[in-house]
Amino acid sequence: MTTRILFVCLGNICRSPAAEGVMRQFAPKLELDSAGTSDWHVGEAPYGPMRAAAKARGFDLSPLRARQFQTNDFRDFDLIVAMDHSNQDRIEALRPAGNTTPVTLFAEYAEGWHASEVPDPYYTRDFDGVLDLIEDAARGLLARL
Ligand code: 4NP
Repeated sequence: MTTRILFVCLGNICRSPAAEGVMRQFAPKLELDSAGTSDWHVGEAPYGPMRAAAKARGFDLSPLRARQFQTNDFRDFDLIVAMDHSNQDRIEALRPAGNTTPVTLFAEYAEGWHASEVPDPYYTRDFDGVLDLIEDAARGLLARL
């Protein structure tokens, strides 16, 4: 059964904590976490504008803290969900021999978006637009568990 899901982006302060926070609200019984492939923001709370946009929709990201993706995550989660191809590649490069944990792309669960990547609002500044995609992808992922 897929009950332990890890969301992964680059900094773990925008996309993956937003995905974690939305999924936590939709499916409180799942074991959820998020991580970044970089160590740039380790220990930090999600980015202020991301937190504010999420809070306006009722998602509280404030308890979350950034951490870096680690090899043990392949063992500790049933499913790893990457926010874009670049992060999917960085995760795959760390896969231990013999491990078969799927590493999927979050945007591909979003019906009607025809996107394979979640755009990074740290650069686009479209925090609300990315939450639309994240909410749809979260619903699509839940429907497939
Ligand atoms: P995230 O966005 O990968 O969605 O958390 C980013 C946040 C910070 C940086 C890059 C991406 N940065 O360059 O610091």
